[in-house]
Amino acid sequence: MRVETLPLARLTTLGVGGSAEVWTVESKADLRQAVQAPFRILGNGSNLLVSDAGVKERVIRLSGVFTKWDLAGWVGAGTLLPPLVAKAARAGLSGLEPLLGIPATVGGAVCMNAGTHFGAIADILAEVELFERYTFRRVDPRELGFSYRKSQLPKEAIVTGVRFALIPKSPEEALARMAEVNAARKGQPKKKSAGCTFKNPPLDSAGRLIDHAGLRGLKEGQAMISHEHGNFMVNLGGAKAADFMQLIRIVKAQLPLELEWKIWGEVR
Ligand code: FAD
Ligand code: EPU
Repeated sequence: MRVETLPLARLTTLGVGGSAEVWTVESKADLRQAVQAPFRILGNGSNLLVSDAGVKERVIRLSGVFTKWDLAGWVGAGTLLPPLVAKAARAGLSGLEPLLGIPATVGGAVCMNAGTHFGAIADILAEVELFERYTFRRVDPRELGFSYRKSQLPKEAIVTGVRFALIPKSPEEALARMAEVNAARKGQPKKKSAGCTFKNPPLDSAGRLIDHAGLRGLKEGQAMISHEHGNFMVNLGGAKAADFMQLIRIVKAQLPLELEWKIWGEVR
């Protein structure tokens, strides 16, 4: 186990956030030790806006045994999704294709019920392992209250592993499906972001609404609403959390949208 003080800007895709004490746990024993004080669990930091002042709680990252995986068996929650999606398709196991292009860990994807128009992670979960009150237990995913970009994990529960329900299919079929998903993501910006900022309202698109309100390209410091897609905010280099919060306020003053990002710490 490693315990270090690190700037969270380095551990988040948006590249924003002050320092915290980061506990990188390698084993179940490490995890038991790490949760003995107030904590937050960090995945790949791809859906987070972290305060410039950092956070006071311990930040736990899953490594070691939690990054071991076997697509036909258990997959550690610290495993990154992108290589899994590619390897499953090549191995002739279908189901993960809708998650192509999501830069999440498996645990973060379960917490957020990450997905695209083609499907979400909840659709392909057979079993989920949770660590809660010093105990590991395996649960039926139906107990976790999944809906659009949402789960109802018990408070303080950490997802430590999953078993996927994948279906044997030819690699050609899986690769063709992945090409479709890839095409749907074509308009998304490549600059540093945390994915879509807001959830889509029922039967509409937040990106389209922000675009039609004329807000693409709006800048606050080095934070900007992307020119390419209205629902992406990008870091042009050295942006502050407060800059993104100002853009969020401007959008919310005009449109009744719900934030998809999780905010860590106090961001003014
Ligand atoms: P983090 O951002 O680190 O954390 C998110 C939340 O999950 C936090 O509340 C955290 O505490 C919790 N969490 C993390 N790990 C665990 C765990 N093991 N147990 C319990 N809770 C945990 N999202 C989509 O849904 N669809 C997309 O198409 C998509 N595209 C994206 C494209 C880009 C370029 C980027 C940067 C992001 C995109 N996202 C997308 C957003 C993001 O990838 C997802 O929300 C993802 O699920 C976050 O996973 P993470 O591991 O990075 O979690
Ligand atoms: N559109 C505009 N202007 C914009 C952006 C979009 O007119 O600036 C229009 C598009 O032309 C399209 C419609 O709005 O007709 C929908 O846009 P898009 O196809 O880009 O999909 P989206 O609804 O914006 C959703 C998810 C993405 C996911 C894609 C691909 C949400 C909030 N977003 O985007 O997920 O990658 O579909 O399936 O559900 C995320 O959650 O972080 C995320 C990136």
